[in-house]
Amino acid sequence: MEGLADVHLRRLLTAQGGFDWAVSEFVRVVDRAYPDRVFYNICPELLNGGKTDCGTPIRVQLLGSDSGAMAENARRAVELGSYGIDINFGCPSKTVNRRQGGAAMLKEPDSLYRIVNAVRRALPQQITVSAKMRLGYDDVSLMLDNACAIEAGGATEMTVHARTRLQGYAPPAHWDELARIKSAINIPLIANGDIWTVEDYHACVATSGTTDVMLGRGAVRSPDLASRIRQNKMTEAQWQVVRHLLIDFWHDIRKTLPEKDCAGRLKQWVNHLRKVHPDAEALWHEIRTEKQWPKLERLIEAA
Ligand SMILES: Cc1cc2nc3c(=O)[nH]c(=O)nc-3n(C[C@H](O)[C@H](O)[C@H](O)COP(=O)(O)O)c2cc1C
Repeated sequence: MEGLADVHLRRLLTAQGGFDWAVSEFVRVVDRAYPDRVFYNICPELLNGGKTDCGTPIRVQLLGSDSGAMAENARRAVELGSYGIDINFGCPSKTVNRRQGGAAMLKEPDSLYRIVNAVRRALPQQITVSAKMRLGYDDVSLMLDNACAIEAGGATEMTVHARTRLQGYAPPAHWDELARIKSAINIPLIANGDIWTVEDYHACVATSGTTDVMLGRGAVRSPDLASRIRQNKMTEAQWQVVRHLLIDFWHDIRKTLPEKDCAGRLKQWVNHLRKVHPDAEALWHEIRTEKQWPKLERLIEAA
């Protein structure tokens, strides 16, 4: 997730267990092949065999509409160690959509086919090509055409965020539509959207008919959610356990990010955690206007 699930958070979340693989933030592909440093910046795990420290493989995500450039960048990302390629057809950002990227592509099933097929043909057969889409742009009228175009293009897996672009992030996620997609395609379908708890996971499986899910914000709010889904364990982790992760995260970003960015990243995560943990809510009120990092550090250590 761009600006959120970066290398630091991916390291911490995957270390809690339960993830088969994870996806990088997207590389915005315009019309050319990028130098290697672009891939290393977005996905530093490529310097670690394409895995997080605990061994979870990372797949580079590409976003763009120029099939030639998408194919060339896909090939390079895989050469550098990416665990397959994920193609983003879901991003709702106006800037991205204006330039024919992300969810804007959902208006044109033929373009989805062209892009997936170009990426597929650029990569060895054993390399996974997955695509992530929404239910549609304004509505679901092209939903099945889009899903079939992605499959026909040669994708080996498909993740669907169960909302249209127009629906943004407004609840609920429409898991029932995923069942329609599942019956129209023959490749694995990964359900996504509003899985916040183990109970949500079961409800999504029952409604969509697929057992594979992608966790986004749910894993940011409940870092052990993937692992608890595996164990069917409903109870949220204790705040003190999560607070230790937060302290670990803070020391990690303090070592690597520019000082001006650290406070914002910390607050961003606490802002997610407070939706689940009352102690994080209290911490949030203490840190939200604080800019001095020694003070922030004292506050999270005392929380
Ligand atoms: C801040 C933020 C950044 C995101 N960036 C990406 C991205 O780079 N690529 C992507 O495929 N989806 C991205 N998404 C969408 C999520 O992957 C996911 O589809 C969406 O949040 C719904 O799932 P959730 O309810 O589990 O969060 C982003 C979402 C958020 C909130």
